[in-house]
Amino acid sequence: MAVTAFTYAPAPERVRPKIRERYGLFINGAWTAPNSERYFETINPADETVLAQVAYAEAQDVDRAVRAARKGFERWSKLKPADRAKLIYRIARTITERSRELAVLESMNGGKPIRESRDFDIPEAGAHFFYHAGWADKLEWALRAGEMPAPIGVCGQIVPWNFPLLMAAWKLAPALACGNSVVLKPAETTPLTALALAQIIEEADLPAGVVNIVTGDGATGAALVDNDGIDKIAFTGSTDVGKVIQRRLAGKGKRITLELGGKAANVIFADAPLDQAVEGIVQGIYFNQGHVCCAGSRLLVEESVHDDIVARLTSRIRTLRLGDPLDKNTDIGAINSRVQLEKIHELVRSGIEQGATFVQAECELPARGFFFPASFFTNVHPSHRIAREEIFGPVLSIMTFRTPDEAIEKANNTPYGLSAGIWTAEGSKNMWIAQHLRAGVVWCNTFNKFDPSSPFGGYKESGFGREGGVHGLHEYLA
Ligand code: NAI
Ligand code: MG
Repeated sequence: MAVTAFTYAPAPERVRPKIRERYGLFINGAWTAPNSERYFETINPADETVLAQVAYAEAQDVDRAVRAARKGFERWSKLKPADRAKLIYRIARTITERSRELAVLESMNGGKPIRESRDFDIPEAGAHFFYHAGWADKLEWALRAGEMPAPIGVCGQIVPWNFPLLMAAWKLAPALACGNSVVLKPAETTPLTALALAQIIEEADLPAGVVNIVTGDGATGAALVDNDGIDKIAFTGSTDVGKVIQRRLAGKGKRITLELGGKAANVIFADAPLDQAVEGIVQGIYFNQGHVCCAGSRLLVEESVHDDIVARLTSRIRTLRLGDPLDKNTDIGAINSRVQLEKIHELVRSGIEQGATFVQAECELPARGFFFPASFFTNVHPSHRIAREEIFGPVLSIMTFRTPDEAIEKANNTPYGLSAGIWTAEGSKNMWIAQHLRAGVVWCNTFNKFDPSSPFGGYKESGFGREGGVHGLHEYLA
């Protein structure tokens, strides 16, 4: 079924960030050419234009970065904690000062709506550096009174493309606050804000080698995992790669944290304020085109309000504007890459073939770039692929339940356990259900809300370890 979407007058963003023609690797505080002299193109997924050439790091480059990080660690870990704090505050302030350019850069390289990069990704990245800068000189007394906890050493950090700068901040800020040095590898499709962060770190005058940024693809990430000079790997990405990393590090005695995929249940009870719940559904699945590990991608609706919710959602998705990520009215930006768009199409085809009913907002797609309109499936069976696998796109799978016990059973019926949502007017029901959901984060009457002081992480195949809050600090302390 197709529903026609509304249209709006354009409101384009006029700020344009400075983008270099070519980026080297940021190693030991300087920009260096890759050993292979190989560079790859990074594009704007909304129009497929080339934005810059980016260095491709091979194992030898990664090794140079790890060696630099070892020296950086000697310098950084010996600094007075208050001096480390000052430098991390400096990074936080610069991100905040340049937030407008960084937001535009993030939207150009990754496809997300400017409203989201402007109001969420970049401010939240700044907030993570502010929050952790505040911890740097308090670790000695706040955690184990009077006993200065030791950093781990050199941390290899591998981040994905869905929240490029924010994920870099989630990884870097706690590592630095605890006195570690870092080799960070951004995702192949979205290196530009991490490279802008390297420039910020360069200007902030951190000691050389404390933060090293190596661009490349999965092979570059694998070289980092396999390098004997690292003491810890922190990874955010697919469950498949997470499993590979865990196997490769087995028995090596390295620290490891994994933040992997999800298939979160968003559970709507009949007594919930339905208008608010529909907004929560929209925020849960269409935020960042659904490229969200904790997306509310499985909607569980109490049977008596199923038709009502579907009717409200059908009219709501007509109002979501798809198009230019740099337009302030845009709700649904570009899909991050052609590969991801194909994955979404493939899973949607499987949903239709397996018998679910497909509903999509009908709207004109831009002539170039990767786009997929807001969509959902009804008549979904728990055995369908669209009910089990991460689609990582703006596609929701709707199922029903009759009793709270059935809601819990269905919500937990997944190999993942990253997040969940509950919508009910009854406080005690909220608490009771939350206690029975096997998910690292449970949102009650809201969805996709984050704060640096709140730990985030999964159960089961969603990974292990926590990021944010006091819990996140322990992951970077020996
Ligand atoms: P991916 O897991 O392959 O990539 C994530 C990061 O890991 C990137 O920086 C990549 O270069 C690196 N990487 C890839 N292979 C590696 C290896 N063998 N060793 C070390 N690092 C490696 O994810 P991909 O292929 O971009 O997306 C595939 C699916 O994964 C998506 O459709 C989505 O379902 C899921 N995904 C989940 C994310 C999350 O936040 N949980 C983020 C990105 C993707
Ligand atoms: Mg991959």
